[in-house]
Amino acid sequence: MPKLSTRSYEMPASPIRKLVPLADEAKKRGIKVYHLNIGQPDIKTPEVALEPLKNFSPDTIIEYTNSAGLESYRRALAGYYQGVGIDVDYTDILITAGGSEALFFTFMTLFNQGEEVIIPEPFYTNYNSIAREADVKIVPITSTIENGFALPSIEEFEKRITDKTKAILICNPSNPTGALYSREELEQLREIALKHDLFLIADEVYREFVYDGYEHFSVMQLKGIEDRVVLIDSNSKRFSQCGTRTGYLVSKNKEFIKLALKYGMARLSPPYFGQIVGEASLRAPKEYFQQVYDEYVKRRNFLIDALNKIPGVFAPMPHGAFYTIARLPIDDSEKFCSWLLSDFNDNGETIMFAPAPGFYATPGLGKDEVRIAYVLNVDDLKRSMEILEKALEQYPGTKR
Ligand SMILES: Cc1ncc(COP(=O)(O)O)c(C=O)c1O
Repeated sequence: MPKLSTRSYEMPASPIRKLVPLADEAKKRGIKVYHLNIGQPDIKTPEVALEPLKNFSPDTIIEYTNSAGLESYRRALAGYYQGVGIDVDYTDILITAGGSEALFFTFMTLFNQGEEVIIPEPFYTNYNSIAREADVKIVPITSTIENGFALPSIEEFEKRITDKTKAILICNPSNPTGALYSREELEQLREIALKHDLFLIADEVYREFVYDGYEHFSVMQLKGIEDRVVLIDSNSKRFSQCGTRTGYLVSKNKEFIKLALKYGMARLSPPYFGQIVGEASLRAPKEYFQQVYDEYVKRRNFLIDALNKIPGVFAPMPHGAFYTIARLPIDDSEKFCSWLLSDFNDNGETIMFAPAPGFYATPGLGKDEVRIAYVLNVDDLKRSMEILEKALEQYPGTKR
């Protein structure tokens, strides 16, 4: 039997999905699992997004679209960006199968094998998988829970720059920490990128989820660096439509877009249904976003307050996205998260978190941390926090 590829063996399994078999077994035993482990919102997709699906005639042919995406959609997206202060033309936008594919195309287009990207950790775990696919080395720079996972200092970035460094990647606001980077911090990154001849990649899929009166400042708004900036974006969370698999890759660097499109051609076309749903979503009324926004603020406020009331637990206040990393008084979050699903329940119910080590590239970090997605309503969050408190009382590895 010939051997399967080394790359595939080295490809990490998603730490968010790794515990799913344990959750499935718990459910088979009749246990209700509150899913706080994954960023799948329970928010309704806007009604207007579903309209085009109702209008298909029986002789419709579901065709490939242009590899860059439907032109009408790209033009509409340029309008969306103009509306949020990002000056792009439709030719600066490629439609992709989710932000995931936009990340993949970016890594394939920017990096040669073995080149390095600096990323503040903890970071979105699929960056690891995509880096493995593209043979790129992630150089982590640790941010800490004590200061709310603020962007590490410029000196820390500069210490990690080598002759192989090609880019810095940030997620703003961040999954998994909820940290929001300010305009000043982005201006500093701009300086480093110019000084050390680097690209700046920003994953802004949570752009609309910014709280406490802060305004989101996009990497695309930085001046004098336009040709070095790549934006990763997605419909998944913005319009609560993860299943449409639509996202976009945006850059004013024409050569980058031209080369990235070749990866688009290799997969022929982005999803057709996703695109028509995505295009219609741009007509969602302001009230939709206001309601969603208010709901997340309510959930966040409840969750952070409840977590910090549990003895030994600490969670900083996230200013964006819908995640938080919480520190728990435990020996090992991988063990704790498995134990919650395999060995524990409270009146037939338990909770599922994502163990934080999978979000760090530095071994040993995040052992007493979990990532919690506040994608459930306040009643479910309330019950989840009761369960957490009881679980910490009973878990054999709780530090007292
Ligand atoms: C930070 C971040 N980037 C990218 C993605 C990819 O999303 P999608 O491929 O659904 O657009 C996600 C999904 O959770 C995410 O959290």
